[in-house]
Amino acid sequence: MSGRTVITFGTFDVFHVGHLRIIERAAELGGRLVVGVSADALNISKKGRAPVFSQAERLAIVAALKPVDAVFVEESLEAKRDYLIEHGADVLVMGDDWAGRFDEFSDICEVVYLPRTPAISTTALIEKISGS
Ligand code: CTP
Repeated sequence: MSGRTVITFGTFDVFHVGHLRIIERAAELGGRLVVGVSADALNISKKGRAPVFSQAERLAIVAALKPVDAVFVEESLEAKRDYLIEHGADVLVMGDDWAGRFDEFSDICEVVYLPRTPAISTTALIEKISGS
Protein backbone atom coordinates (compact mmCIF):
# COMPACT_ATOMS: atom_id res chain seq x y z
CA MET A 1 0.00 0.00 0.00
CA SER A 2 2.53 2.59 1.18
CA GLY A 3 4.90 1.95 -1.74
CA ARG A 4 2.33 2.70 -4.40
CA THR A 5 2.47 5.67 -6.72
CA VAL A 6 -0.85 7.45 -7.07
CA ILE A 7 -1.60 9.83 -9.94
CA THR A 8 -4.43 12.27 -10.47
CA PHE A 9 -5.24 14.92 -13.04
CA GLY A 10 -7.11 18.21 -13.12
CA THR A 11 -7.10 21.90 -13.94
CA PHE A 12 -7.06 23.05 -10.31
CA ASP A 13 -7.97 26.61 -11.35
CA VAL A 14 -9.07 29.05 -8.61
CA PHE A 15 -7.89 26.46 -6.09
CA HIS A 16 -10.64 25.50 -3.64
CA VAL A 17 -11.33 23.03 -0.83
CA GLY A 18 -12.77 20.41 -3.22
CA HIS A 19 -9.37 20.33 -4.93
CA LEU A 20 -7.59 20.03 -1.59
CA ARG A 21 -9.84 17.19 -0.43
CA ILE A 22 -9.35 15.05 -3.54
CA ILE A 23 -5.58 15.54 -3.34
CA GLU A 24 -5.57 14.58 0.35
CA ARG A 25 -7.71 11.51 -0.28
CA ALA A 26 -5.64 10.47 -3.32
CA ALA A 27 -2.45 10.71 -1.26
CA GLU A 28 -3.88 8.34 1.34
CA LEU A 29 -4.10 5.58 -1.29
CA GLY A 30 -0.32 5.26 -1.67
CA GLY A 31 3.12 6.44 -0.67
CA ARG A 32 3.74 8.94 -3.46
CA LEU A 33 1.35 11.34 -5.19
CA VAL A 34 1.94 12.75 -8.67
CA VAL A 35 -0.46 15.37 -10.07
CA GLY A 36 -0.95 16.18 -13.75
CA VAL A 37 -2.08 19.80 -14.08
CA SER A 38 -3.76 20.49 -17.37
CA ALA A 39 -2.10 22.92 -19.77
CA ASP A 40 -3.69 26.29 -20.58
CA ALA A 41 -4.06 25.22 -24.23
CA LEU A 42 -5.82 22.01 -23.20
CA ASN A 43 -8.33 23.98 -21.13
CA ILE A 44 -9.03 26.41 -23.92
CA SER A 45 -9.76 23.53 -26.29
CA LYS A 46 -11.77 21.60 -23.66
CA LYS A 47 -13.77 24.35 -21.91
CA GLY A 48 -13.61 27.16 -24.46
CA ARG A 49 -11.95 29.56 -22.03
CA ALA A 50 -8.55 30.17 -20.54
CA PRO A 51 -8.13 29.36 -16.85
CA VAL A 52 -8.08 32.32 -14.45
CA PHE A 53 -4.62 31.29 -13.26
CA SER A 54 -1.90 30.32 -15.74
CA GLN A 55 -0.54 26.80 -15.84
CA ALA A 56 2.70 28.01 -14.22
CA GLU A 57 0.68 29.47 -11.32
CA ARG A 58 -1.58 26.40 -11.01
CA LEU A 59 1.47 24.11 -11.04
CA ALA A 60 3.17 26.19 -8.35
CA ILE A 61 0.10 26.04 -6.09
CA VAL A 62 -0.39 22.28 -6.45
CA ALA A 63 3.35 21.55 -6.11
CA ALA A 64 3.44 23.45 -2.80
CA LEU A 65 0.83 21.20 -1.16
CA LYS A 66 2.15 18.87 1.52
CA PRO A 67 0.61 15.64 0.11
CA VAL A 68 1.99 16.28 -3.41
CA ASP A 69 5.36 14.76 -4.34
CA ALA A 70 5.58 15.76 -8.02
CA VAL A 71 3.67 17.71 -10.65
CA PHE A 72 3.76 17.83 -14.43
CA VAL A 73 1.83 19.56 -17.19
CA GLU A 74 -0.86 17.47 -18.88
CA GLU A 75 -0.59 18.61 -22.48
CA SER A 76 -3.03 16.17 -24.08
CA LEU A 77 -5.98 14.03 -22.98
CA GLU A 78 -4.91 11.37 -25.47
CA ALA A 79 -1.55 10.93 -23.75
CA LYS A 80 -3.03 9.66 -20.48
CA ARG A 81 -1.74 6.10 -20.90
CA ASP A 82 1.76 7.44 -21.64
CA TYR A 83 1.64 9.64 -18.51
CA LEU A 84 0.57 6.69 -16.36
CA ILE A 85 3.46 4.57 -17.62
CA GLU A 86 6.00 7.41 -17.54
CA HIS A 87 5.21 8.22 -13.90
CA GLY A 88 4.93 4.58 -12.81
CA ALA A 89 1.35 4.95 -11.61
CA ASP A 90 -0.08 2.10 -9.56
CA VAL A 91 -3.35 3.93 -8.87
CA LEU A 92 -5.25 6.48 -10.97
CA VAL A 93 -7.61 8.69 -8.94
CA MET A 94 -10.32 10.79 -10.51
CA GLY A 95 -13.41 12.55 -9.16
CA ASP A 96 -16.63 10.65 -9.69
CA ASP A 97 -17.75 13.22 -12.25
CA TRP A 98 -15.50 11.04 -14.44
CA ALA A 99 -16.91 7.70 -13.22
CA GLY A 100 -16.32 4.93 -15.76
CA ARG A 101 -14.45 7.16 -18.18
CA PHE A 102 -10.98 5.82 -17.33
CA ASP A 103 -11.76 2.13 -16.87
CA GLU A 104 -9.69 1.37 -19.98
CA PHE A 105 -6.55 1.93 -17.89
CA SER A 106 -7.39 -0.79 -15.38
CA ASP A 107 -5.05 -3.08 -17.34
CA ILE A 108 -2.04 -1.08 -16.10
CA CYS A 109 -3.19 0.40 -12.77
CA GLU A 110 -6.03 0.45 -10.27
CA VAL A 111 -8.63 3.06 -11.23
CA VAL A 112 -10.43 4.77 -8.33
CA TYR A 113 -13.22 7.35 -8.56
CA LEU A 114 -13.67 9.43 -5.42
CA PRO A 115 -16.85 11.34 -4.59
CA ARG A 116 -16.64 15.06 -5.32
CA THR A 117 -16.86 17.51 -2.43
CA PRO A 118 -20.43 18.80 -2.59
CA ALA A 119 -21.47 22.30 -3.57
CA ILE A 120 -18.20 23.79 -4.80
CA SER A 121 -16.57 24.09 -8.21
CA THR A 122 -14.30 26.49 -10.04
CA THR A 123 -17.12 27.38 -12.42
CA ALA A 124 -19.50 28.19 -9.55
CA LEU A 125 -16.81 30.28 -7.84
CA ILE A 126 -16.09 32.30 -10.98
CA GLU A 127 -19.82 32.95 -11.40
CA LYS A 128 -20.17 33.98 -7.76
CA ILE A 129 -17.15 36.29 -7.81
CA SER A 130 -18.12 37.89 -11.10
CA GLY A 131 -21.68 38.35 -9.83
CA SER A 132 -23.26 36.62 -12.80
N1 CTP B 1 -13.15 17.96 -7.50
C1 CTP B 1 -13.75 17.44 -6.33
N2 CTP B 1 -14.74 18.14 -5.71
C2 CTP B 1 -15.15 19.33 -6.21
C3 CTP B 1 -14.54 19.89 -7.37
C4 CTP B 1 -13.53 19.15 -8.01
O1 CTP B 1 -13.40 16.34 -5.89
N3 CTP B 1 -16.13 19.98 -5.58
C5 CTP B 1 -12.12 17.17 -8.16
C6 CTP B 1 -12.51 16.78 -9.58
O2 CTP B 1 -13.35 15.64 -9.57
C7 CTP B 1 -11.18 16.50 -10.22
C8 CTP B 1 -10.24 17.49 -9.50
O3 CTP B 1 -10.95 17.96 -8.32
O4 CTP B 1 -10.76 15.17 -9.95
C9 CTP B 1 -9.89 18.69 -10.37
O5 CTP B 1 -11.12 19.23 -10.83
P1 CTP B 1 -11.25 20.52 -11.73
O6 CTP B 1 -12.00 20.19 -12.96
O7 CTP B 1 -9.95 21.20 -11.85
O8 CTP B 1 -12.19 21.43 -10.76
P2 CTP B 1 -13.70 21.90 -10.85
O9 CTP B 1 -13.97 22.74 -9.66
O10 CTP B 1 -14.60 20.72 -11.09
O11 CTP B 1 -13.65 22.84 -12.14
P3 CTP B 1 -14.76 23.29 -13.21
O12 CTP B 1 -15.88 23.96 -12.47
O13 CTP B 1 -14.02 24.25 -14.12
O14 CTP B 1 -15.19 22.02 -13.93
